[in-house]
Amino acid sequence: MSKSKNEPKPPRRSFLAVAVALVAGGLAAVTPLAVGIAAFLTPLFRRRETPSVRVALLQQVPDDGMPRSFPVVANRVDAWNRYPAQRIGAVYLVREPGAEKPLALSAKCPHAGCFIGYAPGAEMFTCPCHTSEFKLDGARVHGDAEVSPRDMDALPVELREVGIADGLAHVEVWVQFLDFQTGHKEQIPTA
Ligand code: FES
Repeated sequence: MSKSKNEPKPPRRSFLAVAVALVAGGLAAVTPLAVGIAAFLTPLFRRRETPSVRVALLQQVPDDGMPRSFPVVANRVDAWNRYPAQRIGAVYLVREPGAEKPLALSAKCPHAGCFIGYAPGAEMFTCPCHTSEFKLDGARVHGDAEVSPRDMDALPVELREVGIADGLAHVEVWVQFLDFQTGHKEQIPTA
């Protein structure tokens, strides 16, 4: 039997309108959720800044070639939290006779992260964990024969003159506290 010409057409427009309304409503409901999730996860992908830290006054590091250790205190930040004034490591500062700027060496052993020791007057640093030995410039005493896969990590140093006291320049020693993974011959920054 053939369809009559006068038979009413299906309500196609209204079906499309309902479908569009449903999709739009769904998007409206999902968008704030997606934005919220993105905002929550963004800190995970934010690149951590390497802190530049004031570790000492220059006058605390006489140019006698003797290492002195200083704590590195900075604000610690993880993905979502900020912890003010935390001890994040330690450095040795060594200033050779006549040198203006000290050398900064991370006290973290490149082998497994133990705190490298220095006995006043000694000719070298020693790691108490697996006996690696380092010269006062951070080089391994026995090269590749040491347990530590690389020399002590030297850190960039900056001197900042912050004023004059008693006729003398007041100079601070700032260190860029880079942190590297242990157990590697190369310096690989920690995440
Ligand atoms: S942690 Fe220093 S030698 Fe192993």
